[in-house]
Amino acid sequence: MPQPSLIAIDGPVASGKTTVGQCLASKLSYNFLDTGDLYRAVTKLVIDAKVSNNNEVAIAELCNELTLVLSDNQTTRIIAFHQDISEHLHTEIIDSNVSFIARLPKIRSALLDKQRDMAKSGKLIMAGRDIGTVILPHADLKLYIEASAKERARRRWIQYGKHEGLYKTLLTEIERRDHLDSTRPIAPLKPADDSIIIKTDDMSLKATVEYIYHMYCFQE
Ligand code: DC
Repeated sequence: MPQPSLIAIDGPVASGKTTVGQCLASKLSYNFLDTGDLYRAVTKLVIDAKVSNNNEVAIAELCNELTLVLSDNQTTRIIAFHQDISEHLHTEIIDSNVSFIARLPKIRSALLDKQRDMAKSGKLIMAGRDIGTVILPHADLKLYIEASAKERARRRWIQYGKHEGLYKTLLTEIERRDHLDSTRPIAPLKPADDSIIIKTDDMSLKATVEYIYHMYCFQE
């Protein structure tokens, strides 16, 4: 089996697909793009410019302001209005608005070519919700990383410092976003027919990376 050049990794929120994708990309010396960050970047611009979530045309125009640039460590930086906004995309307000923005058809189509352009030179791992189904249907390897909502909430809870009462909030939020992502009419979250489904409830992310690398990417 030749080493896959374009690798699509999809999966629900907090499934670990970004961490797995980043680690795999660094092992393979491939570029990495987390497409969730693109939707987050648009959401940030919408919030900053105080554009209404319902003004789809204005939001689609904001998408034109986004540029993707590869950094030295092969991860993708997102530039808007001459500023690198990549480190400002994981805030509570973006978390709670992004699934709504990501449902808008004009936004999905405005971001399509930006994602496909990144894949033109190969040796890329792209993570998201619709990479195997819509963005890169011809990817050489398609992975769908999943874990139960309870396990994903547990991982986030540990990551956020195990605060009392937080687990339930995280679980509710994960279930809400799963629902929004998987029930939207355009490019809903689902595995492609030819995806390899990897269930990680009983596997650490490190073990998941090793498993994928040796099973599907490694060549003597
Ligand atoms: O993976 P994430 O939590 O950073 O994704 C943020 C949002 O963007 C989430 O609601 C799903 C959406 N998204 C999407 O619709 N399609 C993608 N390819 C990636 C993310």
